[in-house]
Amino acid sequence: MKSNQINNIASNLLVWYDNNLRKYSWRKTNDPYKIWLSEIMLQQTQAITANIYYEKWIKKFPTLSSVANSNLDDILKQWEGLGYYARARNFYSACQIVHNNNKMPNTYDSFISLPGVGPYTAGAVMSIAFNQCIPAIDVNVFRIFSRMFKIDISKIKGKKKVYKLINLYIDKNRPGDFNQALMDLGRYVCSAKIPKCEICPINSNCKSFTTNTVLIYPKPNNRKKKPHFSVGVGIIKNKNLILVSKRKNNKMLGGLWEFPGGKVLKNETIIECIKREIMEELGISVNPSKFIKTHGRNRGTNKSSMGYQLSNQIINGAQ
Ligand code: ADE
Repeated sequence: MKSNQINNIASNLLVWYDNNLRKYSWRKTNDPYKIWLSEIMLQQTQAITANIYYEKWIKKFPTLSSVANSNLDDILKQWEGLGYYARARNFYSACQIVHNNNKMPNTYDSFISLPGVGPYTAGAVMSIAFNQCIPAIDVNVFRIFSRMFKIDISKIKGKKKVYKLINLYIDKNRPGDFNQALMDLGRYVCSAKIPKCEICPINSNCKSFTTNTVLIYPKPNNRKKKPHFSVGVGIIKNKNLILVSKRKNNKMLGGLWEFPGGKVLKNETIIECIKREIMEELGISVNPSKFIKTHGRNRGTNKSSMGYQLSNQIINGAQ
């Protein structure tokens, strides 16, 4: 790879970034805590939505210590609506670790050892907050490089090639901006379905663009099918009180409140499921009396392997 081509791509990208910079709130700070928070929020969440939650969060928790000194219920409440609550739980425990050590990790290796921090987050925080020359490669960035060099990233070999190339192309003076420029480019220009190649600042370096094969890359991955479960839950009323229970911290949606119940087992009816789950979880024996509703794709059937089905049962009085 010729070094002037490498510099050319980085500088075109940075000029474009400087002129088209999205004014997200986390771009107005160098505070590693805030940048880290934004990166966690941005996982699985659209940037515009993340920006709203980020601002509300910073008002309530302006510092890492304010998170560490809070409690999980308040953290989860503040996260409400963002989903994937493991992100909040991990962020909370990681902040407590950092707070207790009295030092924000400032190397990739020390940062990645914290709960909920993977290579992407570590690369993003180290480059944006500490100006370290480390790539932050997410699906958008993979897509850009897959197109630019016609690399099939459905194979591990292709992914490794992208890692090598980005390490070569990353701007040594402005690594954080380089990474964020790629994130913006992937989101607004080199998008998956309708890429806007005509306005791309690096289109002349893009092998897919120059050979008219942009939509062929990246080659599709064999995605795992999402599992679906039928779930039975009961509403247990006692006068004007309704029983809710707290999920175990180490489970999906851990630390959140729910009507008691759980997954329907094979060959089990929803009523049997509710009775079993409530006995297992809370040690109380219940008698479901009134069916409320079934909700989800698989209405009317009781197949736990297909569709998501939620049944609410009124249970009058735990026995
Ligand atoms: N997506 C992930 N990190 C981001 C960042 N820092 N800015 C914009 N989008 C992002």
